[in-house]
Amino acid sequence: MSEITTKPPTILVIDDDTEIRYSLSRVLTSRKYVVTEAASGEQGIAMVKKGPFPDLVFLDVRMGGMGGIEALQHIRSANPKQLVVLMTAFGTAQTAIEAMKYGAFDYVMKPFDPAKVLTLAENALKAHADMRAVGDYKPTINADDYREGVVGSSPVMQDVFKVIGQVTASDVTVMITGESGTGKELVARSIWKHSHRASRPFIAVNCAAIPDNLIESELFGHEKGSFTGATVQRLGKFELCDKGTIFLDEIGDMALATQTKILRVLQQGEIQRVGGTETLKVDVRIIAATNKDLEEMVKAKTFREDLYYRLNVVRIRMPPLRERGDDVPQIVDFCLQNLVKQKKARVAKVSPEAMAVLTRHNWPGNVRELENVIYRSAVIAQGDTILVKDLPAEIRGAAGVEPPVGALGSGASEAPFDTVRTASAESAALAAAKVVAESIAGGATDATLTLERAFDFLHNELGRQGTPMLPQIERELARRAFAAAEGDATAAAKSLGLTKVALQKRLKE
Ligand SMILES: Nc1ncnc2c1ncn2[C@@H]1O[C@H](COP(=O)(O)OP(=O)(O)OP(=O)(O)O)[C@@H](O)[C@H]1O
Ligand SMILES: [Mg+2]
Repeated sequence: MSEITTKPPTILVIDDDTEIRYSLSRVLTSRKYVVTEAASGEQGIAMVKKGPFPDLVFLDVRMGGMGGIEALQHIRSANPKQLVVLMTAFGTAQTAIEAMKYGAFDYVMKPFDPAKVLTLAENALKAHADMRAVGDYKPTINADDYREGVVGSSPVMQDVFKVIGQVTASDVTVMITGESGTGKELVARSIWKHSHRASRPFIAVNCAAIPDNLIESELFGHEKGSFTGATVQRLGKFELCDKGTIFLDEIGDMALATQTKILRVLQQGEIQRVGGTETLKVDVRIIAATNKDLEEMVKAKTFREDLYYRLNVVRIRMPPLRERGDDVPQIVDFCLQNLVKQKKARVAKVSPEAMAVLTRHNWPGNVRELENVIYRSAVIAQGDTILVKDLPAEIRGAAGVEPPVGALGSGASEAPFDTVRTASAESAALAAAKVVAESIAGGATDATLTLERAFDFLHNELGRQGTPMLPQIERELARRAFAAAEGDATAAAKSLGLTKVALQKRLKE
C-alpha cells in the first residue's frame, strides 16, 4: 500500500499530435503525475512492453500508422491489467463499444476540458488502486460448498443444513417454504442427492406452470382415449419416477381435485391413470415447496387440511437472503467462480467497497437476484475486479460513491441539439437500440454481450450524472447521426428511424 501512496502515478500519453501531447502533459504534471509521451501507436506499445508498466495510458484513437483501437489490443495483451483511456475527436457508438470491448477503462472526447481529464485520471487510478488492494484475495468458500451447490455458513443456514442431514436417511415428506429465489429447489435436490434414492430420478413438477386440466395427466398419466387429444397411453411422472423423488414445486397452486389424488399417493402409495381403472403401486418420495402461506389457505379452505399435515411432516423454512448477511460474500464468490468456469466472465474478484454495498442491500429477490446482479456486473467490469461503479444503479443506490467518470456527453455540445426534448421515450430507446445493433452488425463478435455492455454502460453513466437519461441519449444520437450523414438531415433522420419532418419537429421543440 505504501508503494501506492508514496510514488507519484505514471501516465503515458500516446498521440501523434504534438500539441495534444503537450497540453495533456501540462495538465497532468500540474497534479504531480509523472508523464511520458509516445508519438505513435507503435512507439507506445514498445514503451509499455519495455516496462515498467505505466499506471495509466491516454491513447488517441485516430493516428497516422497504427490506430488506437489496434494499439489498445496490443497494449492489453502485453499487460492485461493496463488501464487505458481512449481519446477521440469524434465519438461514435461504434468507437465507444469497440473501446469498451477491447478493455479500455473509459474514453474521453477532444477537445478536452482539463478539469474533466483530471477527474478521469483520478477515477481511473483509484479503480486501479482498488484492484491492487484486492490483491491475492482468496475465495472464502471451500470445496464442500462447491460439491453441494448450497453455499452459506450463517447460523440460519447451518440450521437448514442440519435438517437436510436429518431427513436424508428416511423417506419422510418434506415441505420447503420461503420467499422466491431463496433456494427451495436447490435444497430439494440436495436432500435427494444425499438420500438412498440418489441413483433414481429426481423429477421437478411446477404445479403453477401446468394448467389444471392437464396436471393430473402429467402426474398420473392417462389411458388412450380418456379425453380428447389422448391418442396414446401416456405414463405420468409418478410412474416414471418409481423409487425416485418427486419435487412438487408451488404446491399452493395445485387444484383441490388434484390435491385429493396426491393425498392418496401419500396415504396408500397408489395412483390411477386418468381414464383408467387399474390401481398402480408407486414408491416415490415427495418433497413439496411453496412461497404461499399454506396455513392461511387451509383456513380459507383452498388447501386441504389433511394434505397439509401429510406434507408438513418436516418443514424447512428457507431464510431470506437479508437474514444471512454473512453469506453474501461466499455466494458472490461462488457465482463468480461458476461464471468463470462456464466462460461467461473473466472477472474473479470483488473490491471491498463493492462487497460492502452487496452485503448491505436487502435483496427482495434473494439469491436469484444476487446471482443476476453478479452476472451483470461481471460482464461490465473492465479489469479483473468488480468495483462499485460496475454494480447496477438500483443496487448502488445511495452508495454511488465514485464521482462521475465524464465519458458520454463530455464533448463539445454543438448548439441546436441542446434544446431537443424527448417527444417519445420509446422512439429514443428504439433509436439507441438500433444504433448499437448496427455497430454490432459491423463486426463485433459477441453480440449479446456487447449490447448488454453498451446499455449497462449508458445507463450507469447517465444514472450517475443524475440527468434525465432519454433527452441526453436522444441528443447524443442525433448529434452523431448528423455528423455521420455530414449534415444531411434526411439521411440523419433515416438513420435514427425517424422521418425528416419528425426530426425537425423535435429539434424545434
Ligand atoms: N445457498 C445458495 N448458494 C448458492 N446458490 C444458491 C443458494 N440458494 C439459491 N441459489 C441459487 O439461486 C437460484 C434460485 O434458487 P432456487 O431456484 O432453488 O430458488 P427457489 O426458492 O426455488 O425460487 P422460486 O421460488 O423463485 O422458484 C438458483 O440458481 C440457485 O442455484
Ligand atoms: Mg423454485
